[in-house]
Amino acid sequence: MRMKQEEQYKESIPALLFWYEYNARILPWREDLTPYHVWISEIMLQQTRVEAVRSYYYRFLTEFPTVASVAEAPEDRLVKLWEGLGYYSRVRNIAKAAKVLCERYDGNLPADYTLLRSLPGIGDYTAGAIASIAFGIPVPAVDGNVLRVFARVTGYRGDIRSDSFKKQVGEQLRKALSEYAKMPSDPGRFNQAVMDIGATVCIPNGKPHCEQCPLSHMCAAFSEGLTAEIPAKRAVKERQAEKRTVLLLCDGERVLLHRRPAKGLLAGMWEFPGISGHVTYAGAKQAAAAILAAAGGAEHITPADLHAKRLPDSRHIFSHVEWEMRGYRIDVPQENAAPQAGEYLWASPREIREEHGVASAFRAYREHLPKESNLLN
Ligand code: ADE
Repeated sequence: MRMKQEEQYKESIPALLFWYEYNARILPWREDLTPYHVWISEIMLQQTRVEAVRSYYYRFLTEFPTVASVAEAPEDRLVKLWEGLGYYSRVRNIAKAAKVLCERYDGNLPADYTLLRSLPGIGDYTAGAIASIAFGIPVPAVDGNVLRVFARVTGYRGDIRSDSFKKQVGEQLRKALSEYAKMPSDPGRFNQAVMDIGATVCIPNGKPHCEQCPLSHMCAAFSEGLTAEIPAKRAVKERQAEKRTVLLLCDGERVLLHRRPAKGLLAGMWEFPGISGHVTYAGAKQAAAAILAAAGGAEHITPADLHAKRLPDSRHIFSHVEWEMRGYRIDVPQENAAPQAGEYLWASPREIREEHGVASAFRAYREHLPKESNLLN
């Protein structure tokens, strides 16, 4: 006979805390529970693998040791430090939240779930993670891992992404954690124990390692042989493929950058300009002349004044779309490098490397920037 659900949630707490004592992954942000540091780590860990975050975490905190230093930082510098992590709205929200924290809370994070939840970039999961890990507040941090673990434990066969299941797990865990909250650091350790079980034992793809799981004795999916059926598989939505032509407009010293619109994919990031679709040499030169005219100061340039060289194709996968990129390097006569339009900028390879984060979707084309040994700068 199955255990009552409420009992399962309650009993999972001591079982997971004991397991965590000996099996926790050793991660830099677990050694240091300064609320600001916990916040930065949790934002970096949204949609990003633990291994990818380590070096970014150290680099970010070395350059910005306090909330105030983030609030005062130039946005381009913050974005530059984020280069390669993706989902850049995260770092813009960090900057916005840092300003709020300085204005309202003296540069500290508030020890309150609801106040944390109201800050830019902090949703239910992240508010729960920060509140529990940094402040010992008995609240859960419910993400896909937690939903999968408790769907298996309780034998839930519906869609684990549904609002009703999320709500149910959140409420049950909140109740269990509040009743159990004897030691102040436990909620954070419990939440991180579920994350580790989800990442290393109760895994999403492939057979889970139930023989290592401290919850197997109470797990409905394990005892009924249903770990392959739970969680129920969702129909996978196909990623849409988009063809793009990327243009490296070089004046011999510098390359033209374009700032993407403030909303949407890679919002506000610098990119190498381009057009949608794949075009031939003639199309690339025509598009380049139009872009130069839009950038300002080069209205007289015609496609015939330009020289185009084909660069290798490249592909970049985002969460919902995939870019299939064709590239051209376009050599532009030097005297035209004076854009007036605000969303364009001529930048040297050094400036691109050190100051302006060009989205990593364009990584393959950065290799084709003019060689610096040929440059003045
Ligand atoms: N993913 C999100 N938060 C995490 C944490 N604190 N430890 C490990 N993985 C995480």
